[in-house]
Amino acid sequence: MTDTLNLTPQEREADLDLDQLKQLVGLVEYDADKDPFPVTGWDAIVFVAGNATQAAHYYQSAWGMELVAYSGPENGNRDHKSFVLKSGSIRFVINGAVDPDSPLVEHHRKHGDGVVDIALEVPDVDKCIAQAKQAGATVVREPEDITDEHGTIRIAAIATYGETRHTLVDRSKYDGPYLPGYQPASSTYVKPEGQPKRLFQALDHIVGNVELGKMDEWVAFYNRVMGFVNMAEFIGDDIATDYSALMSKVVSNGNHRVKFPLNEPAPAKKKSQIDEYLEFYRGAGAQHLAVATGDIIASVDALRANGVEFLSTPDSYYEDPELRARIGEVRVPVEELQKRGILVDRDEDGYLLQIFTKPLGDRPTVFFELIERHGSLGFGKGNFKALFEAIEREQDLRGNL
Ligand SMILES: [Fe+2]
Repeated sequence: MTDTLNLTPQEREADLDLDQLKQLVGLVEYDADKDPFPVTGWDAIVFVAGNATQAAHYYQSAWGMELVAYSGPENGNRDHKSFVLKSGSIRFVINGAVDPDSPLVEHHRKHGDGVVDIALEVPDVDKCIAQAKQAGATVVREPEDITDEHGTIRIAAIATYGETRHTLVDRSKYDGPYLPGYQPASSTYVKPEGQPKRLFQALDHIVGNVELGKMDEWVAFYNRVMGFVNMAEFIGDDIATDYSALMSKVVSNGNHRVKFPLNEPAPAKKKSQIDEYLEFYRGAGAQHLAVATGDIIASVDALRANGVEFLSTPDSYYEDPELRARIGEVRVPVEELQKRGILVDRDEDGYLLQIFTKPLGDRPTVFFELIERHGSLGFGKGNFKALFEAIEREQDLRGNL
């Protein structure tokens, strides 16, 4: 029996409907009963930041997210501050050390600001952990119940690439704002007049950068341990420029809510952007988070007005007759896309609009993508070359090419 065409509580709370979600993130039906590691969807994306207090303000003021919960010294957590932010069905958690001896200090020294945990909501934590163990994964947290006045969650975690983990959460018996120990909180930040209610509604995919030669190992990990399926494959020349290149494969959970493209550097004349990431993150980690919006034009305009910087796209991208023909008819005039540097990609199923930000923190590591899907289940393969040339201009400016 498929039960995947239900909205998750987070999606219901965000007033998303199923048709909208199918369009936004390419949700599909599948048979969850045959899945050895059923995953309902994203639970939370957990960041470590050098200054979580200020980062939480940035995600509210620049990205329009809402503060919903908090944990810190004021409510018994003397190790770190933790801010829980939401936009649509996405939950971001920003952690920053308070205690100088917090393990987060060493983590941040090594990796800088970045994603430590891609937490997933699962209906049966114990089933997933049993499968993970049997398939040889590293369990970094054994299943346990945690209870407070809002109910009980069951939680466990497995290791993935680098020092990233997947926490697995069953929150079906819990109605608190996040996890036990967190108290409800709300934004004191007041949004500018006329800004859309939210600038993005859902999380589409998170890309992992892994070391040279490791991509296939991690694809196999997601296949074997978590029952993820291969979605698409890009290799070699498709995404190479004269100077740098990468290889990428995409895995997804059964219902396609959770999609993980995995990149590794490919040999080229100069240093790949993936190598630059690996050097500055000190290993494998999450490269970009793609957030889905139903109106990328409005979202990009609001984000720019809030000071978010995007990669620029060369005018030639829009003026080249071959590219122009490939773009075809989209919902807005190409000139509107060009003005904002929004990219278009098309495949047999439809098209998508996308744009990438500059790195979010001080190191050239994690960044965001905005994506508006219209049928296409791709990831912008056709844009990779144009995008990489844009990224490399930035990389060159930093002296790392
Ligand atoms: Fe992407």
